[in-house]
Amino acid sequence: MKARSATFITSAADPAQFPPSSLPEIAFAGRSNVGKSSLINALTGVSSLARTSRTPGRTRLVNWFRVDPPKGDPLHFVDLPGYGYAQVPVAMRDSWRPLIESFLSGREALRGVVLLIDVRRGVEDEELDFAAWLEQRGVAVVACLTKADKVPKNKRRPVALDVKKQLGLRKEPILVSTLDGDGLDDLWRAVMTAAGPA
Ligand code: GTP
Ligand code: MG
Repeated sequence: MKARSATFITSAADPAQFPPSSLPEIAFAGRSNVGKSSLINALTGVSSLARTSRTPGRTRLVNWFRVDPPKGDPLHFVDLPGYGYAQVPVAMRDSWRPLIESFLSGREALRGVVLLIDVRRGVEDEELDFAAWLEQRGVAVVACLTKADKVPKNKRRPVALDVKKQLGLRKEPILVSTLDGDGLDDLWRAVMTAAGPA
């Protein structure tokens, strides 16, 4: 499954620049370099939509994309800056947290957060904190394990079960790979469910 169309809308460095809530929003969040922007490109089938990089900390703004999903009404995908990257200046890290928190706690159109976790790293303190924080605010979470191609097939499911348990998820996280396309259809279904009836 691919999006029928996807286009960049706008970026914000500051909550004052957030566009007004209009279409239902699905945000992509997770550690820096986990593969958020790559996943947006893979889901939409537009390879240069969101900027990706080998260097962590590529996405420093909140970016909105308008997406026509495989079925149903249009959505906004929101690419969030990554957390947990120690190599950026402290002042910049300090500005990310309020930016991300203000988006995630105050957004009327927000329908769900795709929480990305690198299959090789699993759950660390930041994921525990972040998942609990989202849960407290009643934000629906779709957990994803990224870069599945980096781990042999028989080692993937045990990680998924462990992450499910550690984060107290109702469902197993979806194993995805933008390299070989694994899990993208499952993720699309979860995203469309979270976005609500079309
Ligand atoms: P920030 O914007 O810095 O927070 O990073 P991000 O989470 O948006 O990550 P991004 O999509 O830029 O990807 C980071 C690196 O991981 C890039 O070098 C990607 O090519 C690589 N990558 C992303 N997805 C996959 C995947 O499924 N498999 C493999 N092997 N590499 C991937
Ligand atoms: Mg990015």
